Amino acid sequence: MALLSRIILPTISLAALLIGCGPTPNIIPDAKIGQEYPAPDEQEISNRTLEMILETSRKNYPDGARVLRDAHPKAHGCVKANFEVANNVPPELAHGIFIKANAYPAWIRYSNGAPEFPNSDKAGGIRGMAVKLMDVPGEKLLADEKNARTQDFLLISFPILPVGEPSEYLEIFEARFTGSPMKYFFGWNPFKWKLRAFNIVRKIRAAKAADPFEVRYFSTTPYRLGQTAVKYSTKPCELTNAKMPENPGDNYLREAMVSRLKSGGACFEFMVQPQIDAVKMPLEDSSIEWDEQASPFVTVAKIQIPPQEFDTADLNLACDNLSFTPWHSLPEHQPLGGINRVRKTAYEGVSKFRHEQNKEKRQEP
Ligand code: HEM
Repeated sequence: MALLSRIILPTISLAALLIGCGPTPNIIPDAKIGQEYPAPDEQEISNRTLEMILETSRKNYPDGARVLRDAHPKAHGCVKANFEVANNVPPELAHGIFIKANAYPAWIRYSNGAPEFPNSDKAGGIRGMAVKLMDVPGEKLLADEKNARTQDFLLISFPILPVGEPSEYLEIFEARFTGSPMKYFFGWNPFKWKLRAFNIVRKIRAAKAADPFEVRYFSTTPYRLGQTAVKYSTKPCELTNAKMPENPGDNYLREAMVSRLKSGGACFEFMVQPQIDAVKMPLEDSSIEWDEQASPFVTVAKIQIPPQEFDTADLNLACDNLSFTPWHSLPEHQPLGGINRVRKTAYEGVSKFRHEQNKEKRQEP
């Protein structure tokens, strides 16, 4: 094990860096702006992905145990916020909720991405920011929740995923499920090693955060907006340069939020990045970063988080019982690309399972 972590993996990482992290997959040379290209076997892959997630949940939470989320099970807390759409959104981006200046009440759930529970904040890795707007009029995309008045935006603390499309996500998931996660990256044939994906995972694992309110978050996957597609990102309105605590505890991120919201608030800019080149900024490969120089993010709203006390037993339970999915959405913000299409089946199925097992009512706020 020591040989693997001290010598073999660093050597492989170095090789990945030296050879430019391997080829980028899944390029569609004649792709059009805003156009999706689903794979023929995608529904099968979606079903199999959901099956794997449910099998994992059954294994992790046997008879009667309270079922937590399969991904992002650890919350740092859910906070009340106000999502304020700007009054100067450029006309080409003024669609759906961005059509005119307005304010929506919202819940935001901050989390660690690691699937293990409990997990320590001291380990690096993905942090999540899931935003749920309320009082949003209009019919929504999910057939079972057409009349819900919510619009969700899910973001994580890294701009891309290690895998670009659903079959790769399933492969990585299957490797993890069988207890050999490294199998996805390294087989017997070194020419087929997935060094680029491995390098992304390595960077994600190394990322540390001092305070969830000081992190930049990304949707990583694209969404419809008018004639084009966009990716989302949130960034703190101002940085206070929060430092890691001297002796951080396992839950220091929750503690940072509690302490910040005791007397002050927090604020994020909500930004969209339009797709301006369908090949270099693909919809069907979420492992490719859209170049911010070529297409800068545009601020379209502000998220204001007022001072509040959120770390109570009742609010933590209500937070656990929320269901976030990119498909809680108006058609104007339809999730795009293979990874998002697979998420439609996965999040709905897993949230139903979780609520049924826990005998909790499943209802949008
Ligand atoms: C095929 C790809 C993916 C699958 C199968 C998947 C699966 C899941 C599942 C099962 C959950 C827990 C849902 C629940 O129990 O209610 C979850 C939560 C989450 N996922 Fe994903 N995910 C995928 C891709 C992504 C991507 C691309 C992002 C990027 C933003 C993301 C961000 C999140 C976040 C932030 C949460 C936590 C939501 C909350 O706070 O409740 N996921 N994911």
